[in-house]
Amino acid sequence: MRTLIKDLKNGEQVEISGFIEKFRDQKSIQFIVLRDISGAIQITVDKNSNPQLLPITEQFTINSFVTIKGKVVENAFVKLGGKEILPTEIVIESIAETLPIDNESNIDQKLDYRWIDLRTPKNALMMKVQTLFVQSARKFLCDANFVEMHSPKIISQPSESGSDLFTLDYFGEKAYLTQSPQFYKQMAMSSGLDRIFEIGPVFRAEKSFTNRHTTEFTGLDIEMSWVKDVEEVMAFEEELLTYSMKAIKETYGEEIQKLFGVEIVVPKLPFPRLKMKDAIEILQDLDYDIEFGEDFATEHEKALGEYLTKKNGHEFYFITDYPADIRAFYHMRNGNSNIAKGYDLYFKGMEITTGAVREHRYEILTKQALAKGNSQEKIQFYLDFFKYGCPPHGGFGLGLDRITMLLLNIPSIKESMYIFRGPTRIKP
Ligand code: 4AD
Ligand code: MG
Repeated sequence: MRTLIKDLKNGEQVEISGFIEKFRDQKSIQFIVLRDISGAIQITVDKNSNPQLLPITEQFTINSFVTIKGKVVENAFVKLGGKEILPTEIVIESIAETLPIDNESNIDQKLDYRWIDLRTPKNALMMKVQTLFVQSARKFLCDANFVEMHSPKIISQPSESGSDLFTLDYFGEKAYLTQSPQFYKQMAMSSGLDRIFEIGPVFRAEKSFTNRHTTEFTGLDIEMSWVKDVEEVMAFEEELLTYSMKAIKETYGEEIQKLFGVEIVVPKLPFPRLKMKDAIEILQDLDYDIEFGEDFATEHEKALGEYLTKKNGHEFYFITDYPADIRAFYHMRNGNSNIAKGYDLYFKGMEITTGAVREHRYEILTKQALAKGNSQEKIQFYLDFFKYGCPPHGGFGLGLDRITMLLLNIPSIKESMYIFRGPTRIKP
């Protein structure tokens, strides 16, 4: 039976499996470093006492997958964990050809061979960190009585706005890929499900070539009933994030520090909050040409991020009180004002979430939808969700790949997701 490398104990007779990370062939001795998902170990082959292994190790190539049986022994000279394996049997399960990428390869070459690129300890850790983030968030939500939802990704009408939509042929009819589970989250409120979440794919047909945009990402979306003030949504999200980051720091903090050189800072509650008009004033003071009513451009977000992160000594901040004109039609307005009850959450200067209190009153929602140019005919299926009773509610959508990227200071989202999709990349 296979033992994971992290579980190896001195004196035991074991079988381990993984890929060859390093192989050094010396006069009378051979050193193998074998890696599996849990760690790496040195295997030392004494050529004189193990001649039967040599025809096998002769065929070794880096990254070949092998199974090795042998004894675990303590050896203070071994830098890698102070122990090694003295093998009695080696089986090559799969030989690797010379690798097409190495550390010097550029990001596109690496993405072409993503499965090999993922073999690095850094990338394996990234995948584990993302797993724990999702696991913690799911636990937090389930403990708060949320129900998990899996809404359809093939839809007949745009789910967010008419732009950025992938179209597909659905048995001769036009269909789309969802840009957000937004409408179905709200439908669940009308279904009386009270609090729901979904962790699933989100599609955006956006020709963006930035370090934070992808055409398919994973969204963590929540919606909860009986929320009337946007402050309640923000307070919930900051608790969720703090909970998940605490788990990540506890489990992987040291490893992240070692491999990524990043300190996970468990954020202090409450996160700083700032109104859009005050953010605009800061930007104007920094000599940017922007007026209240306009949306931030990338340069504004960057400047604001640097300024606020430094000033607050906090990696997160909320921006609230956006003009309704630059927000989605379904955001509730604050009284009769033209301010939306919504927010964006920034982490290390980048947007990771948009959230809001939604307009649940049929008449007002219909008016807002039409005022934003939606056609009544097309949007009616959604408006119908509010026709037969719907509690007040709010929620948010968080980009999982962005969170992973920012948590570990990975320079591009291309490398913070399992397999990246962009305007010019749909492989592997
Ligand atoms: O800000 P967005 O577009 O908001 C919505 O989808 C709303 N329905 C959410 C809500 O509940 N009101 O998307 C939510 C988050 C963004 O903040 C960002 O983190 C991520 O999804 N995101 C992207 N991530 C990668 N690539 C893209 N092209 C993204 N677009 C949005
Ligand atoms: Mg947004």
